[in-house]
Amino acid sequence: MGAAELLNVSDYERVAEERLDPASYGYFAGGANDEWTLRENVAAFGRWVLRPRVLVDVSALTGATTVLGTEVSFPVLVAPMAFQGLAHPDGERAMARGAAAAGTVMCLSTLSTVGLEEAAEAAPDGARWFQLYWGPVRSKVQELVDRAVAAGYRAIVVTVDLPEVGRRERDLRTGFETPASLNAVTDNSLTWRDLEWLRSHTALPILVKGVLTAEDAVLATEAGVDGIVVSNHGGRQLDGVAASLDALPEVVEAAGERAEILLDGGVRRGTDVVKALALGARAVLVGRAALYGLAVDGADGVERVLGLLREEVEL
Ligand code: FNR
Ligand code: LAC
Repeated sequence: MGAAELLNVSDYERVAEERLDPASYGYFAGGANDEWTLRENVAAFGRWVLRPRVLVDVSALTGATTVLGTEVSFPVLVAPMAFQGLAHPDGERAMARGAAAAGTVMCLSTLSTVGLEEAAEAAPDGARWFQLYWGPVRSKVQELVDRAVAAGYRAIVVTVDLPEVGRRERDLRTGFETPASLNAVTDNSLTWRDLEWLRSHTALPILVKGVLTAEDAVLATEAGVDGIVVSNHGGRQLDGVAASLDALPEVVEAAGERAEILLDGGVRRGTDVVKALALGARAVLVGRAALYGLAVDGADGVERVLGLLREEVEL
């Protein structure tokens, strides 16, 4: 099937499933426990309708904006995802090139299959952020952040919804095992106090990723973060929490004046992006959509999926 026949994110998902070995596909597509939250992330977008206004001059429009000071061609960034080498031999390097070609940010996972410097060199002119998994050894956290700064990453995204790895029953059934141990990268004693430490140790914008309540949104701003990603980790962590879109309004109300609010989870269409923006998000991140593009056609597939989303947003 040629790229011209792949018309939307769902088409890429279907072809990715055909191409990938079932265990890798299950890891990418799956969620925790009953996968209720995984389904809710998508379903929530279907519960909102658009209220279009007419007779507005749309002869010249652009989706270009800035997100925490980083310029993007449209308000869709690539979410951090572990082990992209399982999707394509060029893994994170191809993801970085595809995101750069589409004019947006790639957020690199701590659990990258290539070093953060190597991912940066793959797309030197691309905008990149670094997602931090905060391990138990403080000096290593500091070293990772320093390396990210040196390699030109422009924000640190601290993922806070993985004190333990969710129970992914698809992986248990297929026997999928992650290429690296996840326990080494998480410290389940972490608290907001540790974020204050990070705040005093880097000048880069800090985002927390994985906030779903007004209460935590307030604590995040008190800890000095610049951005909040409303996220449930794509339904992969705590099953039974709200869809990201359903949690967005309370976070925007609690912290929207003091931090930029982003959202990820379930974004598959340009209209999903528009709905999130209408509910107060500054931008969204896409996880699986970009990953399926990568699996199908490397950097070109990533660029094309992001391009499809941009066209849908503008339309
Ligand atoms: C993720 N996600 C994730 N998040 C993170 O902070 N660090 C990581 O290493 C990973 N790894 C990861 C692997 C895979 C295969 C997936 C699908 C997701 C979560 C990711 O950043 C994001 O929150 C969700 O993917 C968003 O949901 P959608 O867009 O996939 O529906
Ligand atoms: C995952 C972890 C690694 O979601 O973030 O698989």
